[in-house]
Amino acid sequence: MENDPIDAWRQLKTHLESLRRAGLLDVPVGTWDPSDFVEPVARFEAEHEPETILTEVVATVEPSVRIPIKPLETDLIPEVVERKPAPAPNRSARPVRPPAPPVSSMFGTYLKAFENPVTPQNDRLPILKLLAAEVAACERCPELASTRTQTVFDSGTPTARLMFIGEAPGEDEDLQGEPFVGRAGKLVTDMLTKGMGLSRSEVYIANVLKCRPPENRVPTNPEMANCVGYLDRQIDIVRPEFICLLGKTAVTALLQSALPMKSLRQRWFRYRNIPTMVTYHPAYLLRSPSFKKEAWEDLKMLMKEMGIVPPAN
Ligand code: URA
Repeated sequence: MENDPIDAWRQLKTHLESLRRAGLLDVPVGTWDPSDFVEPVARFEAEHEPETILTEVVATVEPSVRIPIKPLETDLIPEVVERKPAPAPNRSARPVRPPAPPVSSMFGTYLKAFENPVTPQNDRLPILKLLAAEVAACERCPELASTRTQTVFDSGTPTARLMFIGEAPGEDEDLQGEPFVGRAGKLVTDMLTKGMGLSRSEVYIANVLKCRPPENRVPTNPEMANCVGYLDRQIDIVRPEFICLLGKTAVTALLQSALPMKSLRQRWFRYRNIPTMVTYHPAYLLRSPSFKKEAWEDLKMLMKEMGIVPPAN
């Protein structure tokens, strides 16, 4: 289903409803017609400084503007080529539908979130493999490219409902080529299996950076900017129903928020139009185990939304 306007409008309504509930948009309840939003949205834009309030709001509703990375050349693999509909017959004799009335820029950006067609489930793995090969050849960050053992792309299933996003590979991940396989990874596995009753193979796991930063230092802004486009493409291919961001680096890279973790957790954001929540990075939980209780509360919020009943221990 490509650009289904009814689906797009249904989801847009959800975004606008959350803005309205947050007190950011003055739209009377029950008037869910596109034209009802034009004036309040324009007023909203006029009243709020884009650099301040919108930083927060946009993170919840709009895919961030990213440094463009060359689009995947799906044409190279015939078996995954999207079938383009046959060109419409020339009906120029028939009356042409008038163009849609202009809407505010913010309203338009909501709809942009639905431009990407869903990747058919059977095509996801081969497309991800091509992307992984592109990542393996990446040398955008010369220091990381020269110190890595290998790039670390993903683990889990490309049809997952839930995607976890961490910071960057550590030493174990760099050696084994898989995210979250070291000590922090063991905690992720426990959170998944013991906490949520899911296996690692049922979710999709990736990192902001695909290369290990030397000495596990925090990724720099240019490194994140170089790499996050790959992650965006992973998200677009897998299109999970939910995203869980593990720690500050993932928050900085995707939500572009500098708020402390305590203000970010226990809330829902939207990233690339996907409901997204935030919790502590497992490495932080290993250093500060007293926060595990809060992380568990976060997982429970996630499970409630996903309709998952925690396993009886
Ligand atoms: N920490 C991360 O953020 N990702 C990994 O893959 C491992 C440790």
